[in-house]
Amino acid sequence: MLDLVENRIEKYIDELQDSYIKELFKRLPVGKRLRAKLILKIAKKDEAIDLAAIIEMIHAASLLHDDVIDDAMTRRGAPSINALYGNKTSIMFGDILYSKAFFELAKFESEIAKIVSNAVTQLSIGELLDVNLTKNFNTDIDIYLDMIYKKTASLIEASAECAAILSDKDKDAYAIYGKNLGLAFQIVDDILDIVADEKKLGKPTMNDFKEGKVTLPYIYLYNALEEKDKEKLKSLFKKEVNAQEKEWIKNKMIQTNSIQKAINYAQKLGNEAINAIDSKDEELIEIMKNLIYREY
Ligand code: FPP
Ligand code: MG
Repeated sequence: MLDLVENRIEKYIDELQDSYIKELFKRLPVGKRLRAKLILKIAKKDEAIDLAAIIEMIHAASLLHDDVIDDAMTRRGAPSINALYGNKTSIMFGDILYSKAFFELAKFESEIAKIVSNAVTQLSIGELLDVNLTKNFNTDIDIYLDMIYKKTASLIEASAECAAILSDKDKDAYAIYGKNLGLAFQIVDDILDIVADEKKLGKPTMNDFKEGKVTLPYIYLYNALEEKDKEKLKSLFKKEVNAQEKEWIKNKMIQTNSIQKAINYAQKLGNEAINAIDSKDEELIEIMKNLIYREY
């Protein structure tokens, strides 16, 4: 089924009748396709393939912009589009992908078009919040959760809700599933930034803190540290940390159980996701488990 989504995306790209866009598209590494898998598992219909293709194109567009914003030279272990072709091309290619996706979205009933387009607004607000949060050392969990809800969970929530509408299922229940899944996904992403194997992750680890992102494990860590260590952690914020400093952060994370607390929180959200829907739906439980217990 996922192959059908890849073919649909390719068809949309072909329709643009532009060889340069085709070349850029070939350079885009295919990701986990979490959103597409979710849509296809909830709605087993042809329309779900269009919706999955649209959402994946919007997601790809957001990453093209995000890599410019984050100055990221790699994406999924390969050079990013901005690294290969420059920032301007990455931004414009993103614009092309999401505007074509919106053109296709306009063919859907207005309820679906509204949910998806609203999620994209939230996604953009979330990215802006993320950028603004790097200006200060945020240790407020609610502010972090609000940002990751908008930046990541909103589009996953919209995917699940719209797929439920397409298949006449309980849209509110699936929206809750998608929201919790999305929050858990971003928390696991933030944990992997600290603990993953660099080769598997496809990018350097402990990059978030250097970029000014105080993610959940860091918030737990800061709040658990003694005053003098709090100051030390703050002094390393947005700095290129050396191996010894990396070790210090990692050891303190272990001593204060900060990583485990973040894992527990992601698991709690995963369970809430499953409880919102038919808890016997093995496929959706599988998606949740794959997302939480992943290595990259
Ligand atoms: C990745 O976050 C970024 C997002 C999930 C959202 C980015 C959204 C925008 C740039 C808004 C613009 C939207 C469109 C449709 C063009 P991250 O940097 O934490 O994750 P990463 O490690 O994968 O880069
Ligand atoms: Mg990024």
